[in-house]
This record gives sequence, structure tokens and C-alpha cells, in this order.
Amino acid sequence: MFTYSKGLALLLATSISLITTAFLYLLDDTTLSILLVAVCISFSATFILVYVILEYLVFKEIRNLYSGIDKINRKEFKSYTEEIIQGSKSPLKQLNQEIFSYAVRKQQEIDELRKLEAFRREFIADVSHELKTPIFAAQGFVLTLLDGAVEDEEVRYKFLKKAAKSLDGLSLLVQDLLVLSQLESGDITMKPDVFDIFELTKDVFEQLEDKAAKKEITLRFKSPQQQSVFVNADPTRITQVMTNLVMNGIKYGNEGGYVAVDFREEENRILIAVEDNGIGIAKEHLKRIFDRFYRVEKSRSKKQGGTGLGLAIVKHIVEKHQSKIMVTSMPEQGSVFSFKLDKGVPDQL
Ligand SMILES: Nc1ncnc2c1ncn2[C@@H]1O[C@H](COP(=O)(O)OP(=O)(O)OP(=O)(O)O)[C@@H](O)[C@H]1O
Ligand SMILES: [Mg+2]
Repeated sequence: MFTYSKGLALLLATSISLITTAFLYLLDDTTLSILLVAVCISFSATFILVYVILEYLVFKEIRNLYSGIDKINRKEFKSYTEEIIQGSKSPLKQLNQEIFSYAVRKQQEIDELRKLEAFRREFIADVSHELKTPIFAAQGFVLTLLDGAVEDEEVRYKFLKKAAKSLDGLSLLVQDLLVLSQLESGDITMKPDVFDIFELTKDVFEQLEDKAAKKEITLRFKSPQQQSVFVNADPTRITQVMTNLVMNGIKYGNEGGYVAVDFREEENRILIAVEDNGIGIAKEHLKRIFDRFYRVEKSRSKKQGGTGLGLAIVKHIVEKHQSKIMVTSMPEQGSVFSFKLDKGVPDQL
């Protein structure tokens, strides 16, 4: 580019100085020295002018454009933005800026589409993998029965029970998937109401009593004097949240352990904490446990019958209440899951 602008300036300077000299030569009283001075002045003036214009106003900006395109190709958007923000408002600089913002917009769209595509692929792989297990199990039991095991009354009953259990698991998985997709698409809206979360938690404890008793886990409130706590939230969805959290406390709790629920008032909101003294979660898993299908220890969770959708549903519901689910946990010591809800004022009847 440098030699190109020099060559062009040289060509233009030579032609203009020749034209000027030829014109002066036609005049009667022009001496040789005047002609020489005219040649020198017109040549150097034109050369400098053309060279400066081409080099600093045109080619420099074109070079910037190329380096910009190069940076866009290498996705170095940040350094490039800083460079053009400092620049003046010349038409070429503006063109440069236009190209850049167009490239950034397109790149963002491409990144978003790539992310969605990866998400879709991963989701389909996860769902088919999770569906496969109970379907194959039920299919296996039914086929064994058809192959002759149906004649034996004891085996028939046992296999039918196992097939039914697999289908129950399948039905739970499909229900969870449906709820999750409805929450993500916004089809489920929260129906807030003022209710007593202390009473709601007592109902959840009652529902899960048998499961807790099997592992000799105590379900209790942190404060023995706990009384009514009113919140303004969707009671059906919060039941789902509490059931999931308490159920996890039981599933991942140690024999003879506890799950304790605590309520605390904080600036017009109620902090709800579900604590257990179970197996806990290692730091590297904490960020991912709210992802769909994520299980810390696949084999252990599988034995517990989990699909890894529980906490993903909890996270969505809590976020729909303008809150955030938080977790602190220590392996072998236990976990605390907490979130906040708006305080409710009960109707005075
Ligand atoms: N209280 C807890 N203590 C220890 N680990 C936990 C606890 N809660 C959740 N986890 C870990 O986080 C993972 C994800 O939990 P999540 O509730 O989403 O799935 P799940 O319990 O395996 O299945 P689901 O709830 O769908 O039946 C679990 O598999 C478990 O490894
Ligand atoms: Mg769970």
C-alpha cells in the first residue's frame, strides 16, 4: 500500500509538472530558469499533497479496515472497539465502525444459535438416555413373561410388579420433563397467595414420613418453638420446592440423620433454609447440581431412583418468585439449601 501511494503520487506529480511546464513554455518571455523552478515546485508540491492525502486519509483507513476485518476474524472484538472509539468521525472511520458493529451483531447471533443447537442436541441425548432405562426394563420383564414365565404364578406377580415400578419411574420422569419445559417456556405462571409456610412444611413432612422412617431420618424444624410464618407465593409450586428439597435431604442423608427446616425474617422477606447432615456435595459439583439431569454420583443417585430434574425444577420455580436458590455444602457434613420469599400478611377475618 505504501509503495502504491508513492507510485501514484509520483505519476500525478510528473504529469502535473509536465503540463505546467508545457503551458509556461508556450508563453513568450519564459526563461529556462523559470521553467526549472516551475517543474521543481509543481512536482514537489503535487507529490507531497497527493502522497499525504493518499497515505494518511485513504490508505491508512483502508489498512485499518483490513486489520479490523482480521481482528473480527480472530474474534478480538474488545481491543478493536477500543481502537475505533478513539478515532475521529471521518467517512471511512464511520464505515469501519458500521462494519464492526454489523460483524459483532452477526457474531452474537451465530454464538446464540450455536448455543441453542448444542443445548437442543444435549437435551435430546439426555432425554433419550433417561427414557431408555425404564422402557428397556419394563420391556424386558414383559417379554420374559410372554416367553413362558407367565405360567409361574410367583414369577408372574414379581415381574409384573417390577414392570409397573419401571413404568411408574417413566411416568414421573415424563411429568418432571413436562413441568420443566412448561416452566422454561413460561406456560406455567405463578399464582401468588398468602399462606402459612410452616403448615405447608408440616404437610410435606407428613407426606415423606415413611421414606424418612426407613432411613431413621428425623424431619423437624430448626427451632422447636417454630410457629406460623406467612409468605406471599404460589403454594402449589412452593410445595413442589419443599418436597424436592426435603426429599433430597432424605435421599442423600445418612441413616439416623436429620432434615431441619428453618425460617428467618430478613427485610420484608422470609429466608427458608432446608438443612441436612448427609453426604454433602463437593465444591466442584455445586455449580452444576441445578442443571437438568445432573447427578453428582450417577450410580448412587440411580440407586436412589433420581433423574436429576428435581433441583432444575426447584431453581426455575424459585426464580419465578424473583428469588435465587442458594446452597452451601461440605462433603460428609451436610448441605443447606435456601431461598427467600416475600412476606405475607394474612387476612384478618
Ligand atoms: N441434600 C443433598 N445432599 C447431597 N447431595 C445432594 C443433595 N441434594 C441434591 N444433591 C445432589 O444433586 C444431584 C441433583 O439433585 P436433583 O434433586 O436435581 O436430582 P435427583 O435427586 O438425583 O433426582 P430427582 O430429584 O429428579 O428425583 C443429586 O443427584 C445429588 O447428587
Ligand atoms: Mg432430587
